[in-house]
Amino acid sequence: MSELTKHQAVEEHLIEKFRLFDPHLDQAAGSVHDNNLPDHAVSPLQGQFLFTLARSINARQIVEVGTLAGYSTIWLARAVGLGGRVISFESDAKAFQIALNNIRKAGLQNIVELVHAPAWEALQTTYNHLHPVDLVFMDGDKPNYVNYLKWALDHSRPGGLIIADNVIRDGRILDDEDDDLKVEAVKAYLAALTREKSLTTSILPLVGIKPYDGMAISLIDPK
Ligand SMILES: C[S@@+](CC[C@H](N)C(=O)[O-])C[C@H]1O[C@@H](n2cnc3c(N)ncnc32)[C@H](O)[C@@H]1O
Repeated sequence: MSELTKHQAVEEHLIEKFRLFDPHLDQAAGSVHDNNLPDHAVSPLQGQFLFTLARSINARQIVEVGTLAGYSTIWLARAVGLGGRVISFESDAKAFQIALNNIRKAGLQNIVELVHAPAWEALQTTYNHLHPVDLVFMDGDKPNYVNYLKWALDHSRPGGLIIADNVIRDGRILDDEDDDLKVEAVKAYLAALTREKSLTTSILPLVGIKPYDGMAISLIDPK
């Protein structure tokens, strides 16, 4: 068995064992494929991990950059529960409509505020007064990751979490010659994290049903 096949088989085994699926999660994941959207949703193990992180800090207000079909949004919305709020930004019109439908079907429309807009523009205008944010999850628009980090630091509470996905990119961050925009953006993001004294950051390499990548999880100094 090749290494990747083994990693995929292990995640599939764990998804079954821990029953990390239900009709609403399946609907969101399936709608990505059915509508030919890019296969970029977090995996079930990663969704469960985000849920656990959000729950562990008792998150009530979450900002997500990049909804796609709402798969990760469902995990986050379930973590905050009724009375909580997940504001999720999606710039692509087709993905936004599909996510709206999935969130409604999952009965989470009173928790999730889906915003059809480029996140960076919206966060600087309509959402500039949002406070306190408990968790920011960046999963789209890599070139603005450093900007989202600054925004998150200005709007989050002490003890909040700032999470960025896809910061390893199959190891391409090691290549000084790699001038791919997304690779450069996550390198800049990691460098910014090392300079930020109010954060304790864990980088978690991840491989499973998705190719090798990783998440940066930064805890804001609880003071
Ligand atoms: C990796 S996918 C998100 C996956 C989703 N978080 C999940 O796990 O189910 C990234 C999404 O970000 C969206 N996106 C890209 N640039 C954006 C921007 N500036 N503002 C909002 N969304 C953006 C893309 O259209 C895409 O749907």
